[in-house]
Amino acid sequence: MSKKLRVGVIGCGAIGSRLHVPDYSVCPYAEIVALCDIIPAKAKEVADKWAPNAKIYSDYKKMLKEAALDCVTVAVPNYLHAPITIAALKAGCNVLVEKPMATSAAESRAMVDTAKKMKRLLMVNQSQRRFPAHVKAKEVIDSGIMGRIIHVTAQFGHAGPEYWSPTGKWFFDKKQARFGAMADLGVHKADLVRFLTGKEVAEVSAYTARLEKKNATVEDNFVSCLKFTDGTVGTLCSSWTVKGMEANYTILHCANGSLRICEIPGKPLVANLVNPHCEIVFLVPPPVTNYEGSWGLDVSGAFVRACLGMEKPFCTGEEGMKSLDVILAAEKSALTGRSVKLKH
Ligand SMILES: NC(=O)c1ccc[n+]([C@@H]2O[C@H](COP(=O)([O-])OP(=O)(O)OC[C@H]3O[C@@H](n4cnc5c(N)ncnc54)[C@H](O)[C@@H]3O)[C@@H](O)[C@H]2O)c1
Repeated sequence: MSKKLRVGVIGCGAIGSRLHVPDYSVCPYAEIVALCDIIPAKAKEVADKWAPNAKIYSDYKKMLKEAALDCVTVAVPNYLHAPITIAALKAGCNVLVEKPMATSAAESRAMVDTAKKMKRLLMVNQSQRRFPAHVKAKEVIDSGIMGRIIHVTAQFGHAGPEYWSPTGKWFFDKKQARFGAMADLGVHKADLVRFLTGKEVAEVSAYTARLEKKNATVEDNFVSCLKFTDGTVGTLCSSWTVKGMEANYTILHCANGSLRICEIPGKPLVANLVNPHCEIVFLVPPPVTNYEGSWGLDVSGAFVRACLGMEKPFCTGEEGMKSLDVILAAEKSALTGRSVKLKH
């Protein structure tokens, strides 16, 4: 390939600097030409490490006007996902936006519609789809060995965003984040259970609570019960108050046995089957990217290749929207004290 795609990243905070920019920097089909952050020193620091030729911007509108970009990552606080994504699509860019893709159904719909109108690719970084353990789990489930999925349980919890992004105070502010643990972590598992099972959620009942992050205006804990369109049941929980461990697991109870997926690098998947009675340990393949500090997900590379038509998008705007809809229904349930049906 002669010409590399011209890439820009908007938001050089924790995820921009630790995942998007490094992954682009090792992608042979892309060139990082612009980096933007309202705190330009952050963009400069990232450029110095990964993209010395990138031009630094503090105003994303200026960057979209000047930099002749093919692809843009949007990795800013949640409330800015929709307006910046729409502006980038309208500027003719393909967009990879962080999760949760938006803060309302109207926003996610507008993002998807704009991508269609502009004939550009919109992808959502539901990164759990790319974790090697989850890629392997999908392969195992699709092989049919587990039989019909009957009961799903998924949980994602850690000690809170202050440990992930110490400067990211916006995570605790409802105006900027809209959701707390419910979408910050819950949307990862809502998306993952949809991805792994291939089933859509029909109805949700949920509770939220703020138990420890007293200065926050969002919830720090979320629990929910799911019913899928085919009657499969499940639970989906997330928390910012987990200590002593990171809770990041998914268990699928199926007609032939159970599949335990523990998303810890190097841990295998374990399937316990009843007929024949045995335990199968599936080794998880090594990470795709392996530069120092790599998450091994090759997220940006996958986005670039999808823009070039070399592979299918791992999570389209429509898919991101459906996963967000599960969380929006859960939020409504928590607020009203009633279970909420999703439209399909
Ligand atoms: N997919 C994943 O696994 C994953 C993991 C962590 C975070 N995220 C998501 O990524 C997004 C960013 O999270 P983070 O942890 O990097 O937050 P962060 O606060 O560390 O970084 C956000 C950056 O955006 C910059 N910013 C704010 N307004 C801006 C604007 N108008 N123009 C340009 N830059 C602006 C901030 O200065 C900051 O550097 C969030 O939506 C979060 O939910 C996704």
